[in-house]
Amino acid sequence: MGSRIVLGIESSCDETGAGLVRDGRLLGHGLASSMDEHARFGGVVPEIAARAHVHALRPVIQRALDTAGLRMSDIGAVAVTTGPGLSGALQVGVAGAKAVAYALGVPLHGVHHLAGHVAADTLEHGPLPDPCMVLIVSGGHTSLLLVRDLARDPITHLGDTLDDAAGECFDKVARVFGLPYPGGPAIQRAAHTGNPRAVAFPRPLPGSYDFSFSGLKTAAARWAEGHTGRDLPVADGAASLQEAVADVLTRKAVAACVEHGVGTLIVVGGVAANSRVRALAEERCRAAGIALRVPPPGLCTDNGAMIAAVGDLLVRAGAAPAPLDLSIDPSAPL
Ligand code: KG4
Ligand code: ZN
Repeated sequence: MGSRIVLGIESSCDETGAGLVRDGRLLGHGLASSMDEHARFGGVVPEIAARAHVHALRPVIQRALDTAGLRMSDIGAVAVTTGPGLSGALQVGVAGAKAVAYALGVPLHGVHHLAGHVAADTLEHGPLPDPCMVLIVSGGHTSLLLVRDLARDPITHLGDTLDDAAGECFDKVARVFGLPYPGGPAIQRAAHTGNPRAVAFPRPLPGSYDFSFSGLKTAAARWAEGHTGRDLPVADGAASLQEAVADVLTRKAVAACVEHGVGTLIVVGGVAANSRVRALAEERCRAAGIALRVPPPGLCTDNGAMIAAVGDLLVRAGAAPAPLDLSIDPSAPL
């Protein structure tokens, strides 16, 4: 039997990540971000992201190996994000993963980016309970998923955003508020000294399990435009926006758990790093008798460890490896 160490590679957006996982345990990881290069454009520039991955991939894999005290030859399988994401960015990671798998003669596995976000939590809290409800909230996604066995069963997609993702709403409003990119952490910092009840922003609750954030984004922009320059009470606006987003996310997620008789909610993705989202989820889950699992912030945002975690599950489930002509799927459905 060969090595059970799985190298995971993530390059779907602006983070280049490599992680090493064996039997559900994180051995080491490396991460680089081109976020600073995108900051002055107010969002990720695909061409810049792709080029940054080219430079970062090799050092990031080496860092993962160094932190784990391992060598390249210790790797027993390679897992890589094939989508969804930016096509140029995905190409770099997939090409790198193929090169490593081919050179070492080890199996290659393609991984769905969202399955990676779900699996991130297993590295902190152990195997996923079957079933569990997963709320993925990031810059690109706001999805409510019913998950059974990640390696064997298809994920049931209960709802999604009808327009902007929650993180996108934070990023865009932050820009209008004059806060830096990425907007989520900036909104959280600004909200710290603000009053969450200062502005009555809309709390959209469209039917079923879907979300909608464009109305909230527009309302926040209009509110900001109603003030001039230095008069803008950014802290109150940020706190009120954060409260509205946290409210609708946790309200829907907890309702989905109750209606489906699911006892565990897992919140993942970049926005799961938000302290108010975490606190409100905790409060509402406790009231509904639901166990809440949220990975630590470092595992919530894009990283290679989460892709290695899915690869590890696939390897242990005996999944068939992908061919070496594995292609990317930028708009991969679940
Ligand atoms: O999961 P992620 O790293 O990348 C995507 O797949 O999108 O999520 C990035 C998103 C950004 O929109 C960022 O503003 C948001 O997550 N984010 C936060 C926080 N940290 C990151 N939003 C709110 N509060 C935070 N602390
Ligand atoms: Zn992501």
